Amino acid sequence: MRTAIYGAGSLGTVLGAYLTRAGIECDLISRNKAHVTALQQKGAHIVGKVDFTVPVKALLPEQMQGTYDLIFLLTKQLENRKVATFLRSYLAKDGLLVTMQNGLPESELAQVLGEQRVAGCAIGWGATLQSSGVAELTSEPEALAFSLGMLNPGREERLQAVASMLGVMGPVTIEENFIGARWSKLLINASFSGTATVLGCTFGEVARDRQARRIAQLILKECFDTGHRLGIAFEPVQGKNLEKLFDYQGRVKQKLSYLLIPLAMKKHASLKPSMLQDIEKGKKCEVESINGILSKEGKRAGIATPVNDLVVQLIGKIEAKQADPGWNNREAFKSFLS
Ligand SMILES: NC(=O)c1ccc[n+]([C@@H]2O[C@H](COP(=O)([O-])OP(=O)(O)OC[C@H]3O[C@@H](n4cnc5c(N)ncnc54)[C@H](OP(=O)(O)O)[C@@H]3O)[C@@H](O)[C@H]2O)c1
Repeated sequence: MRTAIYGAGSLGTVLGAYLTRAGIECDLISRNKAHVTALQQKGAHIVGKVDFTVPVKALLPEQMQGTYDLIFLLTKQLENRKVATFLRSYLAKDGLLVTMQNGLPESELAQVLGEQRVAGCAIGWGATLQSSGVAELTSEPEALAFSLGMLNPGREERLQAVASMLGVMGPVTIEENFIGARWSKLLINASFSGTATVLGCTFGEVARDRQARRIAQLILKECFDTGHRLGIAFEPVQGKNLEKLFDYQGRVKQKLSYLLIPLAMKKHASLKPSMLQDIEKGKKCEVESINGILSKEGKRAGIATPVNDLVVQLIGKIEAKQADPGWNNREAFKSFLS
């Protein structure tokens, strides 16, 4: 299966290094020239929770040739329609594009590439590009899980092949209820990535700080309520039933969910959200595709999502350079924290 990782930055470099190290040929493609040159000259250096270097095949988009049977999509979602249109001629007729982006990206990509050529994969681990050619794995190596699936079934054989490929890195679940897996990931991203981006910190720091943890917990609740109203059955993540652990109605369950958050975040404590990484680089981030999607879905469902809406608003201000990420932003949530 001729394979490419399109958008090999933080996550894509780690994925490409693991696949290549396991003997699976794949092209790591990025528009970032300095990064591609470093990968070509020195290989992919993966640091953080592991430390290894592996020679990889890296190229710029303009150097792509022929068609691929499998393309993992790992660009940010800011211009997905444009990227999908560009990739249309590089994806084999019976090929599969597997988006590993956060949010709910599959429908838009399927509009360009066709439903049967688009699958999705929710990733349960994180990475940060430290410098050209060097990516940091920010989750524990035993927590590198994948939830793979399609909105509409029909490519089971190809999904099986993708699953065995990703299996060299960690456990892969092929989800029958893929939309449920997507929502479980959205739940974590909207709450932890959103809060950590506003406060300028890691997942672990959100879990440790009492107020930050409560902000994340309130967004979790808004996401559960929205999903439930829309008929979503949240899928377990890494064997953990998120609804049982974190959804609540009364005070006792609320307290229990609050106490469990630091334990649940232990293996991902150093994870710095890619939205925050983008802001630190002066780039626009994916807030509209993560917290923005939750606000939109909340409206559609008739569920108020005020804490999440505030995150969207604050990240907008930060992007517009009217505010900075930082702990003082907790103040804006004061009315929700009683
Ligand atoms: N990082 C994480 O921990 C994490 C965890 C789970 C899911 N995700 C999701 O995974 C996706 C990728 O995240 P990431 O953090 O790996 O992003 P990233 O570090 O920004 O990597 C994206 C790479 O794609 C390149 N790129 C962007 N647009 C391109 C285009 N049109 N053509 C060719 N190359 C292009 C970027 O180049 P430039 O540097 O020039 O922009 C960069 O090298 C996002 O949807 C994110 O939400 C990330």
